[in-house]
Amino acid sequence: MEIVRTVRELRTRLAREPRVACVPTMGNIHEGHLRLVRIAQQHAPFTVTTIFVNRLQFIQGEDFEKYPRTFEDDCAKLEAAGCDLVFHPDEAEMYPEPQLFYVEPPAVANKLEGRFRPGHFRGVATVVLKLFNTVQPQVAVFGKKDYQQIHIVRAMVSQFALPLQIVEAETYRATDGLALSSRNRYLTADERREAPRLHEALSQVKAAVESGDRNFEALEFAADALLARHGWHVDYVVVRSRRTLMQPEPGEKELVALGAARLGATRLIDNLEILSP
Ligand code: PAJ
Repeated sequence: MEIVRTVRELRTRLAREPRVACVPTMGNIHEGHLRLVRIAQQHAPFTVTTIFVNRLQFIQGEDFEKYPRTFEDDCAKLEAAGCDLVFHPDEAEMYPEPQLFYVEPPAVANKLEGRFRPGHFRGVATVVLKLFNTVQPQVAVFGKKDYQQIHIVRAMVSQFALPLQIVEAETYRATDGLALSSRNRYLTADERREAPRLHEALSQVKAAVESGDRNFEALEFAADALLARHGWHVDYVVVRSRRTLMQPEPGEKELVALGAARLGATRLIDNLEILSP
């Protein structure tokens, strides 16, 4: 597996590759990321994983400084998964001067995650556009774990007519239901035992809606209460339209339950797609 750290070297190397699939990550590679790599391999003969902890998408007081950076381990895992190349720029390479141009995402970026992490998706959209321009992949793979992120990336690709296909990967979970995430490593042993309850709360909402209950507010309230009873600080548990991420229209069937909640010092997010009858 090749490791490349500069844009210039990457461009030269990829000029020989007619079709590239890219998996953007911030590293601390886990099985969820590796699933994305395997999907990428089905879409192109050459797979690039990018590892870059993007300062622009962290808001004041978040974990930018302590975000786990485990490059050696990451490379071992990616190599074993058959990734062809890792692009690992440092900050001076990605942002040689302070970034003055940004991708300003639409209003949906200020809801849900954006309400609790103002500016987050502006930072995500900006780095993702820059990574797309750098790698120039034909395909890029994103995980549904970050549901709102894919929504915004797709909208960006469509509105700017970016010449690539976005492929989605299902959320990979531990056997107890907890979605794998780099931030899970912040959990204490007790918190780790409690953590699957976020998935459980969303599963209850899903089961109720799929059996015909459309009283979303009551279901959201019950999920929130379940988590609060077990010591969580809930940012939101909501049912939304898959298409718009806004309140579902009457009769709309393709829905998604999205949740974000804090357990001690760790903030977890998760979601489940719902098909209303
Ligand atoms: P990161 O959190 O490292 O995630 C990289 C990719 O892996 C994202 O597409 C994310 O949705 C996916 N992913 C994470 N956990 C997953 C799981 N359990 N199952 C399936 N997919 C999972 O998301 C980012 O980095 C950044 O915002 C980035 C897009 C790289 C821009 O900086």
